[in-house]
Amino acid sequence: MKQPLTDTLSRPLRDLRISVTDRCNFRCTYCMPKEVFGDKYVFLPKSELLTFEEMTRLASIFVQMGVKKIRLTGGEPLLRNGLPEFIKMLRKLEGLKDIGLTTNGLLLNKYGKALYEAGLRRLNISLDALSKDIFSKMNGRGINPGLILENIEYVKSLGFSVKVNMVVQRGVNEQEVIPMSAYFKEKHITLRFIEFMDVGNDNDWSFQKVVSKKEILSELLNQYQLIPVDANYFGEVAERYRYENSDSEIGFIPSVSKSFCSSCTRARLSSDGKLYTCLFATNGYDLRQLLRENATNNELSNAIWQVWNNRTDRYSDERTDLQAISRKKIGMSYIGG
Ligand code: GTP
Ligand code: 5AD
Ligand code: SF4
Ligand code: SF4
Repeated sequence: MKQPLTDTLSRPLRDLRISVTDRCNFRCTYCMPKEVFGDKYVFLPKSELLTFEEMTRLASIFVQMGVKKIRLTGGEPLLRNGLPEFIKMLRKLEGLKDIGLTTNGLLLNKYGKALYEAGLRRLNISLDALSKDIFSKMNGRGINPGLILENIEYVKSLGFSVKVNMVVQRGVNEQEVIPMSAYFKEKHITLRFIEFMDVGNDNDWSFQKVVSKKEILSELLNQYQLIPVDANYFGEVAERYRYENSDSEIGFIPSVSKSFCSSCTRARLSSDGKLYTCLFATNGYDLRQLLRENATNNELSNAIWQVWNNRTDRYSDERTDLQAISRKKIGMSYIGG
């Protein structure tokens, strides 16, 4: 019998984020700027994507190794055909406690019902502004925030539990913090403010553009009384607060100002079958090759074990180190956050 699986910093493997596609129907300036992801950009061809059967096989091995939570991401995951069937396949995995999906929300009017019927219950929906002008610029495709708000109402009415993610950037959308908080407080939907991160190599990041949790919280405290709430689970990335005299909550994901690497239990699987042990990694381990060379479950499990056991990642702790910051990182849209 092997020892429980932990990495070099004693962190267990508990979560798996699966990116089902590298494509997206948005061109958010902080993730897929249209100058880089233009008409000529080459996305992964279909033959290189893992099939849902392959993803489920890997997921079942991860679950046997201790993963309790799976989050589906993209690019935009709703662009991948057959997602409800995939959810059904994942739901059969014994030991898996939670499945979530992170989406820009645009296609939820089309797929929300089928996803709910397949058994999905949790959606994290990205929305960076209520202002039409600001949001349509930020998403790079002129999409009206009203469409996303309508879809949020719709999926709530279906019974989904919904959280909204807002990436806050100085000089871009910080004036939307108060309008967004007022809107979602009233709707009893948790809004989470995310510090702008230096993911990928294309988003023109700088420390100056990060609006910290501290700044946002102090702005909110001018308006509201907020009470800290305990994390939902070990290693939750968001710090939670509840509005006084209300059951509405907000959260902060302070990945730049306050690293959460010491409790990071997340592995990431790209849509072409590479295993990454950090959002800021350079190289992944090619599980697709093993899969397609007919490796046994035992061989796959041993390979994953080795990767996790040797893991040393703690990028957010190292961000002030110039060497760490200048290395080539995987793209956000490729790995899904
Ligand atoms: P739940 O807690 O299950 O609701 O999901 P989540 O908040 O972990 O997932 P979501 O996809 O909504 O991500 C919210 C933000 O947290 C995104 O900006 C992610 O990139 C960021 N994030 C998630 N995991 C990590 C991580 O391990 N490291 C860093 N630096 N950021 C992360
Ligand atoms: N910094 C912080 N969050 C980001 N996201 C995408 N790019 C960045 C970035 N540079 C968010 C999306 C989505 C989640 C998966 O990650 O808005 O909510
Ligand atoms: Fe925007 Fe998400 Fe698409 Fe990136 S993957 S461009 S953050 S909607
Ligand atoms: Fe985990 Fe890397 Fe994020 Fe740190 S920076 S929390 S190690 S994914």
